[in-house]
Amino acid sequence: MRSPCDPSKFVAESVKNIPPSGIRRFFDLVSGLEDIISLGVGEPDFITPWHIREMCIHSLEKGQTSYTSNYGLPELRDELTRTYYRRYGLDYDPSSEILVTTGVSEALDIAIRAVVNPGDEVIVVQPSYVAYVPSVVLAGGKPVIVSTYVDDNFSLTAEALKPAITNKTKAIILNFPNNPTGAIMTQEEFEGIADLVVENNLFVISDEVYECLTYGSKHVPFSSLDGMKERTVMLNGFSKAYAMTGLRLGFAMGAPEIIHSMMMIHQYSMLCAPITAQLGAIEALRNGKEEMERMVREYDRRRHLIVRGFNRIGLECYNPKGAFYAFPYIGNTGLSSSEFAERLLDEKKVVTIPGDVFGDAGEGFLRCAYAASVDDIRKAVERMGNFVDGLKQ
Ligand SMILES: Cc1ncc(COP(=O)(O)O)c(C=O)c1O
Repeated sequence: MRSPCDPSKFVAESVKNIPPSGIRRFFDLVSGLEDIISLGVGEPDFITPWHIREMCIHSLEKGQTSYTSNYGLPELRDELTRTYYRRYGLDYDPSSEILVTTGVSEALDIAIRAVVNPGDEVIVVQPSYVAYVPSVVLAGGKPVIVSTYVDDNFSLTAEALKPAITNKTKAIILNFPNNPTGAIMTQEEFEGIADLVVENNLFVISDEVYECLTYGSKHVPFSSLDGMKERTVMLNGFSKAYAMTGLRLGFAMGAPEIIHSMMMIHQYSMLCAPITAQLGAIEALRNGKEEMERMVREYDRRRHLIVRGFNRIGLECYNPKGAFYAFPYIGNTGLSSSEFAERLLDEKKVVTIPGDVFGDAGEGFLRCAYAASVDDIRKAVERMGNFVDGLKQ
């Protein structure tokens, strides 16, 4: 008989060293529990609008189940070109400057792999979406953390960015509207960052998946700043704006050299994004504006409700300007973010995500997604109020 083996010995060191997602850990704690209210998931609670689902269903009925071009369906790329020209005057060539991907998740992975050489430093602005640091590490790069602070409205300042730049810095990952803070950046605030990008010859990976979810001010694509189009790859997708998370569709827009390099990885690892989702995305861009705006208005209503609620129960809350997350401060309760979130779940059955999951700069905060029903938000705030009152006794 051949000797048994330990399969864990085959796992690459680079993967062994990746910490598990702090968000997943909370989902594991919740499974099987009853009467739970979840403000944990970063996912719309709406179903994909019917006209988009119907388009997907029809395409399947017609037998549209083939591969597409590696770059994605030409009609979808044409529609993306038209959309971004109409929205911002941005002019991307559909034949060479757009790549359709399997969600922003894939676009992020291949954008980083396309530009990072082993040992290159990549600046990650925290609190940040949990995938950035592991994606840089898996590509052989070195993440360098720059923090944002509530006193600056969680904006990235040139003063904070400058000292982090070295002669090894290759790129910076931006994400505005931001997960988890809900912060956005204005054109004026971005200008100082753009100056540093040029001075230090940096590349920008701009994750704008929450582009359509802004409240009261229009989104500013980083690539729309003077001189930034060639230096920026914009990552974007349909998950959040059109409630299409499970359809897994995203795209990247950038210089032909970058998009081509990303496509080289994509063609061997993914081949193409699913055709059903691509056809649904064409429908979303052509006819989805009204439904999308309806969902955004509803998030806005919930945003007011949750922010007012947190401030009322004594959890000071930055007023988020985009995405669907509130990020209240819990540091004055005497508990750490993890202790607060774990005890809140245990004692009041409300799921939130501790801020430190998004980096050290998130310690003292909680991420609460308001992509939940008004009823659930009201109940969650009430339970959290009782929990906070209990801590004072
Ligand atoms: C900032 C950010 N980027 C990317 C993603 C992943 O998006 P997709 O569903 O398009 O892969 C998420 C999902 O939560 C996110 O919050």
